[in-house]
Amino acid sequence: MAKSTTLHICNNCDAQFSKWSGQCAECGKWGTLEQSSSTEAPQALQQRKQALDNVSAVKPTAFSDLTTAQVKRLTSGIEEFDRVLGGGIVPGSLVLLGGDPGVGKSTLVAQVAAGIGQTVLYVSGEESASQIKLRLDRLELNQSQLHFLAEEHVEVICKTITEQQPGLVIIDSIQTVASSAVDSEPGSVNQIKAATVRFLETAKTSGIPIMIIGHVTKGGELGGPKTLEHIVDAVLYLEGDRHHQFRLLRSAKNRFGSTNEIGIFQMQEQGLSQVANPSETFIAERSDSAGSCMTATIEGNRIFLVEVQALVTKTSFGFPQRKASGFDLNRLNVLLAVLQRRAGLPFDSHDVYLNIVGGVRFSEPAIDAAVCLALVSALYDQPLANTIIAWGEVGLGGELRSASRGDDRAKEAKRFGLTSPISASTVKNIRDTIAAAGLNKK
Ligand code: TYD
Ligand code: MG
Repeated sequence: MAKSTTLHICNNCDAQFSKWSGQCAECGKWGTLEQSSSTEAPQALQQRKQALDNVSAVKPTAFSDLTTAQVKRLTSGIEEFDRVLGGGIVPGSLVLLGGDPGVGKSTLVAQVAAGIGQTVLYVSGEESASQIKLRLDRLELNQSQLHFLAEEHVEVICKTITEQQPGLVIIDSIQTVASSAVDSEPGSVNQIKAATVRFLETAKTSGIPIMIIGHVTKGGELGGPKTLEHIVDAVLYLEGDRHHQFRLLRSAKNRFGSTNEIGIFQMQEQGLSQVANPSETFIAERSDSAGSCMTATIEGNRIFLVEVQALVTKTSFGFPQRKASGFDLNRLNVLLAVLQRRAGLPFDSHDVYLNIVGGVRFSEPAIDAAVCLALVSALYDQPLANTIIAWGEVGLGGELRSASRGDDRAKEAKRFGLTSPISASTVKNIRDTIAAAGLNKK
C-alpha cells in the first residue's frame, strides 16, 4: 500500500507543516500555505535504498599533494573597498552587498565597476539603463567597459554571462531577479535563494566573479541578505544613516580574507569618497558644551574618535523619556540604572536624550564610559575639559573594565589634543570616573 502523507508547504519560505493554517509560523506571511501530497510506492523506496547502498568509495587527496595556484584578484582602485574584501575580488567568487535602501549600494558598485579595468555586465531589474547612465555621468565615471542588461530571469542572465564572458557581473538587486523554476513571486525567500544558488553555480563554473546587491528589509531579515549569507562567499554590509554622510563598509563573512577590516566612506556630490582619517572628520565639529564627551572606539582594525552627546532635562510629567540615536536604547537604560544606583544620581526623575555624532552606529561596549560622562555632564550642566577622552565598559556593579588596545587609543587621542584619557588603567569604577573628569554637584 502506498504511504500517503499530506503536507502543507509555504510558497514563500518552503516550511512544511502537517496542518493547514492561515499564517506561516516560520516566515509570518499570510495565505501562503498550500497543500501538497506526496506518495511514494514501496518499490520505488526500495530501489532508492538499493541505489544508495551501491555507491562506491572514492580516494581522498592529501593536502600536501595539492598545489595552489596564485589567484589574481580584481582590484577596483578604491582601497577602502578592496581591503574589506581582503585585497580585491577573487575570480569566481559570489559577493553579496547588503544595506538599507538608499544607503549608496548602487553608487558604490558603479564606482567599483568603473575602476576594475575589465568589461562589467551591469544587470538591473530595478533601474532603467538611462537612470544608471545618469548616475554614471554624475559620478563622471569611465563607461567604456560597462555593459547594461535589463533582465529579470536568472536563467537568461546566467546564459548571457557564460556567453559574453565579462570580467565582473553586478546584479542590482537580487530582489528583482526571478527563476522560472520556482513559482513564488519575485522577491520571496524561495526566489532569491534559488536565484542566488544559480549565480553561485555560474560563478564557480565560469570563474567570473558576481556581485549581488540585496536590500535589508525593514524590520526583518527574512527576504533580505541574511537568508543568503550561507550560500555566498563573502557578505559586505554598507551601513550609515541616509541623512548623514558617513558610510561604513563591513564584512560579515569572507571566505577569502579576514572580517576585521572596515572601509570608511563619505557620501558626497561626486559619490562615495574614501575617508583615510576618520577621527579628523568626526572630531572637526565637536562641541564644547555640557553633555559632550569624546571616546575612542575600535571597529574592525580602525580607531575612531567620536563624540557622545547627551541632553538631560527634568521630567515634567509622567514617566521619564529616554531616546537614543546611534546607541542601543536598552544599553542606555542599563547605564542610567548603574549611575542611579552606584553613583547616586537622580536620573529616575529626568528625561534623557543621547546621540552618537556622525550617524554611524558603533557597538563596542567601550563607549559606555563616555556615555556615562556625557550623561553626568549634562545632568550637572558642567562641560568637560576639552582634553578629556574616556573609554571602557561599565559593569553592573559600577566597575570600569579595561578595553583592548588602550595604548593605541591613547596615542590616537593624543594626536588630536585629547591628552587626558580616562580609562580602566587610571580609575576603577564609575564614581572615580566622574571625579576624575572633574564633575561634581555644586
Ligand atoms: P543609491 O546608490 O541609489 O542607494 P541604494 O542603491 O543603496 O538604494 O544612492 C543613495 C543616495 O545617495 C541617493 O538618495 C542620492 C545619494 N547620492 C549622493 O549624495 N551623491 C551621489 O553622487 C550619488 C550617486 C547619490
Ligand atoms: Mg540601488
